Amino acid sequence: CGIVGYVGSKQAYPILIDGLQRLEYRGYDSAGVALLHNNEINLYKKEGKVAALEAEANGKNLQGNVGIGHTRWATHGEPCDKNAHPHLSHSGKIAMIHNGIIENYAQIKTELTNKGYQFKSDTDSEVLVNFIEDIKINNQCSLEEAIRVALKRVTGAYVILLIDPELPDTIIAARKGSPLVIGVGDQEHFLGSDASPMLAYTKDVVYINDHEMAIVRPGELILKNYGNEPLTPFVQRLDLDLAAIEKGGFEHFMLKEIFEQPQTIFDSFRGRLDAEQHRITLSGLDAIQDRLLAARRIIIVACGTSWHAGLLAEYLIEELCRINVEVEYASEFRYRNPIVGPEDVIIAVSQSGETADTLVALENAKQQGATIFGVVNVVGSSIARMADAGAYTHAGPEIGVASTKAFTAQVIVLQLFALKLALLKGTISNDRFSKLVEGLHAVPSQVEWILTNELENIKAIAAKYKDASDFLYLGRGYNFPIALEGALKLKEISYIHAEGYPAAEMKHGPIALVDETLPVVFVATKDPYYDKIISNMQEIKARKGRLIAVVSEGDEVGATLAEDVMVVPEVDEIIAPLLSVIPLQLLSYYIGIERGVDVDKPRNLAKSVTVE
Ligand code: G6P
Repeated sequence: CGIVGYVGSKQAYPILIDGLQRLEYRGYDSAGVALLHNNEINLYKKEGKVAALEAEANGKNLQGNVGIGHTRWATHGEPCDKNAHPHLSHSGKIAMIHNGIIENYAQIKTELTNKGYQFKSDTDSEVLVNFIEDIKINNQCSLEEAIRVALKRVTGAYVILLIDPELPDTIIAARKGSPLVIGVGDQEHFLGSDASPMLAYTKDVVYINDHEMAIVRPGELILKNYGNEPLTPFVQRLDLDLAAIEKGGFEHFMLKEIFEQPQTIFDSFRGRLDAEQHRITLSGLDAIQDRLLAARRIIIVACGTSWHAGLLAEYLIEELCRINVEVEYASEFRYRNPIVGPEDVIIAVSQSGETADTLVALENAKQQGATIFGVVNVVGSSIARMADAGAYTHAGPEIGVASTKAFTAQVIVLQLFALKLALLKGTISNDRFSKLVEGLHAVPSQVEWILTNELENIKAIAAKYKDASDFLYLGRGYNFPIALEGALKLKEISYIHAEGYPAAEMKHGPIALVDETLPVVFVATKDPYYDKIISNMQEIKARKGRLIAVVSEGDEVGATLAEDVMVVPEVDEIIAPLLSVIPLQLLSYYIGIERGVDVDKPRNLAKSVTVE
């Protein structure tokens, strides 16, 4: 979910709507705002995207200099008007928005129901706002105190914003496990799940930590811990432009982000990769160098696309650094009681730096003494802040829900990490190191080449296969994670079922699906397993599957075998994934467009999953 808030002298409504639109990538099944005006709360909410909310609110009383807004990704209760936020307390006086999950809501709900409370929605959030009001009435205390008392009983993760006509120019906020940023303006404050809603107004922000409460007024920001002790807000200046979060002439953020990759890949290695001196500088790695060199193993923890970058890193680090690596889905790792200790280094891969499962998995591992290295895109995010050291991916804000440029930036950073560590460990020859450094340096222009030369071809392939009901993606070695990523991208933005598989392993199951209707995408660039993957292509062809292949420039064999090909420059196998993923991103994008999907906001997904 995405949350916004405003207190100041401007009209809150347009600021909230603009902010919600910027946060829609976090969830968009319903949206709502509550405005405080003349000691009254006006609340509007609607199922659907923010545009539906605007239509609902149009012509109504939208006055007020204080307000809160929410765009939802449903957890408890289906997406519908009544389950949309904000939620009002029983008396109708307090309005609250919530991002997260209240795990023990059922118990609290029973207690309140026994006292005669009735609920209008199916949400855990409505339970919480009533619980807070109940405490406020019973204890005859301030709203602030009631929130503190309530949150002591609550288990789960949340960020909440509340407004109350008794406090006419105030928003009270609290966080545990979900992100909250407060923008500091001139006699005004902005609140958001990230900084994008406030970027047009201020670049001075305060990141709120877990177990902190903020009492926010136009000219005042009071920060406290749950023990009611005051804290000093640490104001940081953001190094971000508004242009970075706008579409800049592209039809979708996803397309813009795909096309930004020559630049973002360069930005990820800028100042780190010296192709002339053949040097790699990664200060984050230096900071934990001793622990890395002594590490028993490296564990990579991530979700989604970031997990695919992690899988690639497993192959890379094991091959180049000769150290044991495991890759874990954060949601499994956090609950399966893994063996972790001070001898382990954990690499956390996360675009947002806020994924709830990843964050908690890391906190658990840290408690057991492991060292955490963050590979994170969003500067100042929770994972970036909790890590012992790290390297930002510097891809810039990624708004499209399907991850593209953040993935290639993660891969670059992990490649730099592996190469640098290999050099320190003495497991790579100087010659190979230098060749790979030069190879990486050439990637931005090679990506540019693909975007220029293959675009029309890929559009045509997309149009040809758009009606398929299933796709299989196959790859070997470093291209196996790319097959997984290609399949995930297609699923996410076209709603076509797609599976990624190791090319040889497909003989143990997926081959049963092959017939003359099944498109099979091979990631078959020139590498040491090239002959093997050509055999796998033959196996599919013999069963009449429709072969589509990503091949290296000049590869006649692969090109003749496949019905359709997408060409990428031939490079070292370690670098190849950075190139072979690009045509697959474009293929999914154009199939999604052909099928009329809102590719930036595909159904049911959210970009930043801050619930477990
Ligand atoms: C969601 C997003 C994916 C992303 C995953 C992990 O599922 O839709 O694009 O890969 O979360 O997110 P993170 O921010 O931790 O990389």
